[in-house]
Amino acid sequence: MGSSVSEGGRSSSYPLLKGQKALVTGANSGIGRATAIGLGRMGADVVVNYVSGGEAAQDVVRQIEDLRVRSYAHEADVSQEDQVVEMVSRMVDELGTIDILVANAGLQRDAAAIDMTTSQWQKVLDVNLTGQFLCAREAAKEFLRRGVVPEVSKSAGKIICMSSVHQMIPWAGHVNYAASKGGVMMMMETLAQELAPHKIRVNAVAPGAIRTPINRSAWDSPESEAGLLRFIPYNRVGDPEDIATAVAALASDLFDYVVGATLYVDGGMTLFPGFATGG
Ligand code: BGC
Repeated sequence: MGSSVSEGGRSSSYPLLKGQKALVTGANSGIGRATAIGLGRMGADVVVNYVSGGEAAQDVVRQIEDLRVRSYAHEADVSQEDQVVEMVSRMVDELGTIDILVANAGLQRDAAAIDMTTSQWQKVLDVNLTGQFLCAREAAKEFLRRGVVPEVSKSAGKIICMSSVHQMIPWAGHVNYAASKGGVMMMMETLAQELAPHKIRVNAVAPGAIRTPINRSAWDSPESEAGLLRFIPYNRVGDPEDIATAVAALASDLFDYVVGATLYVDGGMTLFPGFATGG
């Protein structure tokens, strides 16, 4: 079975992730959805995690099964330790192991700092940061137990943390979200340092403005899209597939020597575009 790197790209046929088992959290919509399908296209079996929106998750599963790899949906709140433990242990039971974790589930609860409630603050930190940690911890245990299987991959496992340009760009009105992603950066780098001697690769993808439900108001009218494009030198809003291909590449052995890196996939948003004409 062949797989192409991207749907629209040239159909070079090399199933980079053939035989690997991937878990994608928050995979029923947006970036997670595209990533789950993208990994399936590259030959991986994929567990589609979701916390609500079971119908949408089943739809993703069907699309992945059409690629002639295995898939199932698993409902779990990544911020709840027992649910994460159960999710990874079911995956080991059903698919045999886990090779790739994409810790993607994340949300926004925006408010000006002085109006932000403790529950808005806590919810975002719980899902975006603690949730990624719990999933990474459980995946790493299985990677360590199993070790390297050379026919499958050069490494014992790959963790891809979904970060954001806001791990480095401060974001007024979103202090909880920016703090969570800044935390993801240091969590990812520390895990990478700790786990690399065990042949586990931990990296992050940091998307810029991608056309998904999380930021719909930023692109769903011509005026708002024009406003957004002022921050994007490459002059287009990203598509979820832009992120999916980056994740698949990072997870593959083509990137075997990439450890503890953040791959910004942002059309240049982190290039301080305001300085293009001044400074
Ligand atoms: C946020 C989006 C935002 C983008 C660029 C992402 O991490 O989730 O809402 O449009 O960063 O600012």
